[in-house]
Amino acid sequence: MADLYSLENRRYLGSKAKLLDFIHKIVEEKCGAIHSFADIFGGTGNVGWSFNDIKTKVIINDFLKSNYLSYIAFFGKEKIDVKKLKSIIAIYNNVQTDEDNYFSFNFSNTYFNKNNCRKIGFIRDDIDNRYKTGELNEREKAYLVTSLLYAMDHIANTVGHYDAYRIDGDLNKKLTLKMLNVGSLSQNKNNEVFNEDANDLVKKIESDVVYIDPPYNSRQYCDAYHLLENVAIWNKPDVFGVAKKMKRGKDIKSDYCTQKAPTSFDNLIQNINSKFIIVSFNNMGTKGAGRSQSKLSDEDIIKSLSKRGKVEVFSVEYNQFTTGKTDIKGHQERLFVCEVFQDKYVKSPLNYTGGKFKLLPQLFSFFKEGETFVDVFGGGFNVGINSNCNKIIYNDKCNQLKRLIELICTYDYEQLTAKIKEIINQYSLSDTSTKGYEFYGCHSNDGVGKYNKPGYEKLKKDYNSMMDSEQRDILLLVLVFYSFNNQIRFNSRGEFNLPVGKRDFNDSTKNNLKHFISKAKTKNIVFMSCDFDSLKNDIDTNCFVYCDPPYYLGIASYNENKGWSKDDEIRLLNFLSYLNRKGVKFALSNLIKHKGKEHGLLITWCKENNFKVNIIKSNYSNSNYHITNKSGESVEVLVTNF
Ligand SMILES: C[S@@+](CC[C@H](N)C(=O)[O-])C[C@H]1O[C@@H](n2cnc3c(N)ncnc32)[C@H](O)[C@@H]1O
Repeated sequence: MADLYSLENRRYLGSKAKLLDFIHKIVEEKCGAIHSFADIFGGTGNVGWSFNDIKTKVIINDFLKSNYLSYIAFFGKEKIDVKKLKSIIAIYNNVQTDEDNYFSFNFSNTYFNKNNCRKIGFIRDDIDNRYKTGELNEREKAYLVTSLLYAMDHIANTVGHYDAYRIDGDLNKKLTLKMLNVGSLSQNKNNEVFNEDANDLVKKIESDVVYIDPPYNSRQYCDAYHLLENVAIWNKPDVFGVAKKMKRGKDIKSDYCTQKAPTSFDNLIQNINSKFIIVSFNNMGTKGAGRSQSKLSDEDIIKSLSKRGKVEVFSVEYNQFTTGKTDIKGHQERLFVCEVFQDKYVKSPLNYTGGKFKLLPQLFSFFKEGETFVDVFGGGFNVGINSNCNKIIYNDKCNQLKRLIELICTYDYEQLTAKIKEIINQYSLSDTSTKGYEFYGCHSNDGVGKYNKPGYEKLKKDYNSMMDSEQRDILLLVLVFYSFNNQIRFNSRGEFNLPVGKRDFNDSTKNNLKHFISKAKTKNIVFMSCDFDSLKNDIDTNCFVYCDPPYYLGIASYNENKGWSKDDEIRLLNFLSYLNRKGVKFALSNLIKHKGKEHGLLITWCKENNFKVNIIKSNYSNSNYHITNKSGESVEVLVTNF
């Protein structure tokens, strides 16, 4: 092995080589089985690379060319001719040259002696010449440059970086290029390497885990490794000062080393497309202006991550990994792990009985949407709002409900919450999201029902005695937010009749409301309130029709007033048969078995028409209806005519 350079045979500021076990342990415990891992501030690349296996795609990125070339060399997919590379490396290791070149003119007796500088310049020119004549492919060129960079790094007269060289160091070490240890690496064929600013890259990639190990302080990596970067790029720039640095462009200066770090970090985090985000950050610098002080505080990190999901912090004493070589007391390496909320679908702010939110991934996997989505029994609108169609027809026979959905979809979030707050104040209802539970003499387990009861009952009375108006709709919305289980139910006289609930207009409802409204703004929604049969004229073959009727076998709360009869069920099946004859695609949610009963009518209709009966795995945690009981006697289905 000593005859080969391995990926980790490299000194690098902030390298996590010694923390790999810790990182793997946390990923295993917190992220479970992963299929992709992106290391977007790759440095040496050893963290990302340690996750490579047949099942896991690895993405590695760094904006420094010297790092990127090593990724191509070690993990590139192009075939390399090992025999050819061996003979070229043998030639390079025996080079004797008295001729000066760019490298010896500029760097003799700094980081290397004159002889080694002449060799480095000669070798680097020779690699480019061989590449230009077609003797080397892209990866073979990267391979030789990487071998040269590793060889230089091994003998450089420095303390590990190129901010300065030692005055009294040993300049007479021999420059020895070696083959790279790529032979043992079995690659996932989907691996990718990039050479971009991480903030740009995250907008283009998707990965189960995105691992972030940014610079911690004002020390720019392009300063510390300017010499390797110079040799990697090799356009022979002028160099300046004692350290002989070239001019370093904006493209390799990191915002993470400046005051911009918190803003750039937040921007990065908000654009990530992943299930987990993991940030490495040690505890060695308090935030401040000094060179070694961190540019990001723990608060900055947690604040940005919390916007995306649940955050946990894990730490380990650094000494544990360095077998006591470092004496720095209290040095902890930490991983901030964020499990990203999966917000592919927006959730209705109304907890409508039988709401389909939890089933959306299953339902949408069966749907074949056209230009217009028709949500015939719209209810809380969980399904239609998440449709990919631009035009959506929302229908619900319950006019108050339709008015409520229309109100929510047409208002701005800020305007609507201001109106809601007015009513909350007017009826002296609780506002725990700003004042907490204690303020109302309540505990979060028991909720605020007791406190809210008088105001809620008054609100209900006022609502039930009012004529239809927008203000009345807003009153209904507040009633729903404060009602039992946040549900919505009317008696046969059309009066809202639920008792007060435990919760109020809290953060989770606000969040649902906000996302629901912003999704609605991207769609063209038509609101209707009629019997399904009257929709016939609005439906043509460009429509995809979804029906989620009251379940004939269920005991939905809206069924209590005999709201859905056998006659209704037959009319619905006839309506769908009619659409089928017209060539319209439809999907119907229903139960074919429930509490020992079978829906013979539906089963026969499906058989006669050759419709597909797709079984749905039910998952209702919050409904006294559609219950899948443990003996498995309740079977929910999605019937489709395609
Ligand atoms: C702390 S080091 C990473 C060390 C790495 N985990 C390892 O074990 O070798 C940070 C890396 O981020 C790179 N970097 C800094 N800002 C960047 C940016 N905006 N985009 C991409 N890479 C960046 C630096 O070049 C440096 O290699």
